[in-house]
Amino acid sequence: MTEHTEQAGRASSGDVLHVTDSRTGRSYDLPITDGAIWALDLRQIKASDEDFGLLSYDPAFLNTASCRSAITYIDGDEGILRYRGYPIEDLAVRSSFLDVAYLLLNGELPTKDESFTWEQEIAHHTYVHENIKKFIDGFHHDAHPMGILVSSLAALSTFYPEAKAISDHVRQHEQVVRLIAKVPTLAAFAYRHAMGLPYAYPDAELSYAGNFLNMMWKMTEPRFRPNPVLEHALDVLLILHADHEQNCSTSAMRVVGSSQVDPYSAAAAAAAALYGPLHGGANEQVLRMLSEIGSVDRVPAYIKRVKSGELRLMGFGHRVYKNFDPRATIIKKVADEVFEVTGRNPMLDIALELERIALADEYFITHKLYPNVDFYSGIIYQAMGFPVAMFPVLFAIGRMPGWLAQWQEGGADPEQKISRPRQIYVGEPLRRMNGPAT
Ligand code: ACO
Repeated sequence: MTEHTEQAGRASSGDVLHVTDSRTGRSYDLPITDGAIWALDLRQIKASDEDFGLLSYDPAFLNTASCRSAITYIDGDEGILRYRGYPIEDLAVRSSFLDVAYLLLNGELPTKDESFTWEQEIAHHTYVHENIKKFIDGFHHDAHPMGILVSSLAALSTFYPEAKAISDHVRQHEQVVRLIAKVPTLAAFAYRHAMGLPYAYPDAELSYAGNFLNMMWKMTEPRFRPNPVLEHALDVLLILHADHEQNCSTSAMRVVGSSQVDPYSAAAAAAAALYGPLHGGANEQVLRMLSEIGSVDRVPAYIKRVKSGELRLMGFGHRVYKNFDPRATIIKKVADEVFEVTGRNPMLDIALELERIALADEYFITHKLYPNVDFYSGIIYQAMGFPVAMFPVLFAIGRMPGWLAQWQEGGADPEQKISRPRQIYVGEPLRRMNGPAT
């Protein structure tokens, strides 16, 4: 017997997956659309009338598309990354971070006028409520800045209760602007708190990256002037981190956002996901690893430990890229420019030696392990003077527009509902308690 289902409103190419259930002998045609079957179509496949229906089991979502998205395209085998169709290589040399943020959010690059208005809008919203400072003051002097960022992002929701109106486009835009504008301020304040320095206020005359450097480094000078090479390098690094389709933190943003919570709370969840050492925390771990290795001659022994399964080579490997990470290629060029200003980071020699040995080694070749964006970003950040604990925070500043664009897209998608995966229960069957009731 052949059954065929059509999801309402879903265009089908006419291609089908023909499956036969060996339990019943029944056959089904599952429509294939955009190279995927609809998981809900599996539900009709039942061993008996009482059966719930077939589930697909996909721990860690290795082969499950959770949404349709028009924002970022990645071809992991070819090492391709595009935002809204534009190659990352073009954007890195021809655009600014704020224009890329505009592109991710609106689908098109801004015109000159739009770009100017957008920059002004962001610059206007960089200040945070003075109570945020008190809130940050409450953290211990050695609190990790990423912990402070996660908490203060969530705290922002209490200052803007109107952010709950997530379907109101005007309100939505306000929160998007505030989040992009304020995240560098929160990040810099977290750093200054750790250093025991007074908070440096935003300077609307500076670029987005330049103002962040101002809030980080301004001391007694009446006006902070960022080094243009470092300002530009930071801007490029932010562009490279701006979006990366359905990664762990972006999925967190979408999943938490699907509960219709305000975007500050969803962004705090996304930042928390980014904090982990397997995700945005990897750049921090790379530097800790390079420090632990300490010198070039100790690299082979370290590689040996990695191959024995004792350790992971941080900054290597990617769930999607299995050939090379195009961001890592661009970052190497940025590193050269930065080192001309700052002097060469001694960690670079250890990193280059690790890369050289790993890329020629059978283990890394067969496991398709290549340097990812985090392998070199930390070395650049360190040369620029950022402490290691700030690295994931820098990543979060760059990723904010991506999180917001994905959040907006998810909210507007009629196929989306509150995210709620299924499970396969493997616990005890029904059992009863004996003895008298208390
Ligand atoms: N060093 C050594 N071996 C590795 C590494 C690594 N960095 N990454 C993967 N492997 C090995 C695993 O041990 C496994 O080997 P096995 O099949 O012999 O057991 C195999 O490669 C596949 O590894 P998985 O963990 O299944 O790959 P997955 O796609 O789940 O992981 C990840 C991707 C998390 C990025 C992983 O490569 C990793 O831990 N890398 C180091 C951390 C890192 O750099 N993260 C940043 C990612 S980029 C970003 O978030 C911006």
